Amino acid sequence: MKVLSIVGARPQFVKLAPIAHALDAAGHEHVIVHTGQHYDEKMSDVFFADLGIPAPDVHLGVGSGSHGVQTGSMLTQLDAVLEEHDPDWVLVYGDTNSTIAGALSAVKLHYPLAHLEAGLRSFNRRMPEEHNRVLTDHAADLCLAPTEVALAHLTDEGLGERAVVTGDVMTDVCLATAERVRDRQPDLPEGVVAGEYVLSTIHRAENTDDPDRLSAIITGLAALPYPVVLTAHPRLVAKAKDQGLDLTQGSLHTIEPLDYPAMVGAVQHARAVVTDSGGLQKEAFLLRTPATTVRTETEWTETVDLGWNVLALDLDRLTELVDRPAPEPTDATPYGDGNAAAATVTALEEHLPRR
Ligand code: UD1
Repeated sequence: MKVLSIVGARPQFVKLAPIAHALDAAGHEHVIVHTGQHYDEKMSDVFFADLGIPAPDVHLGVGSGSHGVQTGSMLTQLDAVLEEHDPDWVLVYGDTNSTIAGALSAVKLHYPLAHLEAGLRSFNRRMPEEHNRVLTDHAADLCLAPTEVALAHLTDEGLGERAVVTGDVMTDVCLATAERVRDRQPDLPEGVVAGEYVLSTIHRAENTDDPDRLSAIITGLAALPYPVVLTAHPRLVAKAKDQGLDLTQGSLHTIEPLDYPAMVGAVQHARAVVTDSGGLQKEAFLLRTPATTVRTETEWTETVDLGWNVLALDLDRLTELVDRPAPEPTDATPYGDGNAAAATVTALEEHLPRR
């Protein structure tokens, strides 16, 4: 079986790692296409190095741009790549512009398309990620759902017959990495002590691109009564600069994006996480660090239902939310047991369309 993976943004490299290893272990051929959506070393290369992912076979080098420009630039190059490699499956990941570009190119050329992390829904149609994931699910021949909740969404949309629950591949990487870094002290900014800081990331367009909202978030974080280690995505740095917002005010200790093992270590040693990242909400849950999510909804509803994540609907209450009583301990595993990549490869083998 020949699988062609299309990735381009930071969280996709994390998901690619266990898939690349599982495909290799099962003796399958795997072609990796990097669209170049993320290109800074700390947003891309370090993930390949730290997670042992083979170098991409193809790099499209598209870089940044508006949604249409970025997605279109991927599309103009992908047809030739798919035809050259002629895969049995095109595998796309998550919900970024690289996902939708890969999906469109595959279906137009009649290549079987599998969508990893299918069925997630925020039901917020203003999010670019929501367009990307809904359209990709409906184009896919095989929807690889990470959870039962995701499967229920697919079933509601008439896609249940094409869906398989595999568990979440991010659980595979997160738990394996946590084991590797367990005894390592996190590399913290001067004066910040393990166990006493809040770890934060803010990067989503709905937070960074609305000046009033971004200002309220940064002011709220700066006012927390704990040191806040803010790992800053380039989008946040650029938008804060445009607005003259100081990312070092109050409690803030702003640092560059962390590589994956450092991020897992930083979550493990934090007293709390404040984020708008889907991946980080879940990693916080897996590592049992309470999270507060700076969004009006979440796709990872299990983290909220189990009490380990709350939505910061009112930014004025951020301190109160971060300081809430510790959640009930739980041994629930809504995201699987760390074997989702092997289950994904089995699903691809079992559903391989005849060509
Ligand atoms: C993208 C995904 C988002 C995902 C996130 C993970 C889409 C629509 N969004 O958002 O779902 O959660 O990746 O990080 O695909 N930039 C750099 N260097 C880089 C990459 C980006 O400086 O290596 C800057 C550029 O100014 C760019 C901006 O960040 O314009 C946004 O990058 P882009 O890839 O458009 O989207 P993300 O915000 O990263």
